[in-house]
Amino acid sequence: MVRADAPGKIILFGEHAVVYGQPAIAVPLHAVQASATVEPAPYGSGLSVYAPDIGQTLRLESLDGGPDDPLHNAFIFPLQVALRYLQHPIPDLSITIRSTIPIASGLGSGAALATALVRALCSALGHPLFNDELNPLIFQVEQRHHGTPSGIDNTVIVYEQPVYFIRGAPPQPFAIARPFTLLVADTGHSSPTRKTVDDVRHLYETAPEQIGAIFSAIGGIARQAREKIAAGEIASLGLLMDRNHDLLCQLTVSSEALDRLCAAARTAGALGAKLSGGGRGGNIVALVDDARAASVAEALRSAGAVNVIQTVVKPSG
Ligand code: MEV
Repeated sequence: MVRADAPGKIILFGEHAVVYGQPAIAVPLHAVQASATVEPAPYGSGLSVYAPDIGQTLRLESLDGGPDDPLHNAFIFPLQVALRYLQHPIPDLSITIRSTIPIASGLGSGAALATALVRALCSALGHPLFNDELNPLIFQVEQRHHGTPSGIDNTVIVYEQPVYFIRGAPPQPFAIARPFTLLVADTGHSSPTRKTVDDVRHLYETAPEQIGAIFSAIGGIARQAREKIAAGEIASLGLLMDRNHDLLCQLTVSSEALDRLCAAARTAGALGAKLSGGGRGGNIVALVDDARAASVAEALRSAGAVNVIQTVVKPSG
């Protein structure tokens, strides 16, 4: 039996603007993860994927094609991409995929499922992939999910490192001088990234100068945030998160629930808070002093968060 895992992710700064070439910062979220296990299957039975979380078994019928539906895109398309990359015929294997990452909630569920599936399948076939090989494959899956992804989700999830990301460029080294604590709070409302990315594109097409200026302002915040994190000036990051959230509101990707959770976090003493990911649902991220983490988490639950995860972003190495 071969097993592979992949974490979720949180975007700290720069979502949406990153699609238009601005920098963004994301960190892996190890508290949630996808895991795939591969077992041999009887001769001639082909490749099947069992997803107990949703009670579905899917079969890979061919190396190409298949419906453009969410289940095929999540569970079968990554395996087609992997087999084509390895130029391997359909093997007789059975894969079980589980995930604790809520779907369509800004935590990178699609990229993490694909990463776990491709890693596990390639290892089981005797061709474990380097991350530099794996990342473009997961980007292909992201394109199938979202149309025009920036590539930030697959990059942070495949490398499992904090990334300062610019579309089309290799992920840049990213210094973290001091650990800092985040709370990730779920509105409980799902919202597909494809829809919000499409809506922002439409907005940009109707008012390119005004929306382009918002993208630039968000990019400026991500650059400043990188400097603050490198200098260990964590308190001033909170203000940058608040400003980033306001700009995302102007891009129309916030929601009443996201605004409510951000406000609750700030009122309870968080240093800053913003929506994270595609928006209109999913999660917010709040920056907190350790001493306040428990009371901010409690305030988030009282304000309607269905789940609150605490995570610490640490210097790597
Ligand atoms: C989704 O996690 C982040 C977005 O910026 C889309 C993307 O970068 O592909 C909204």
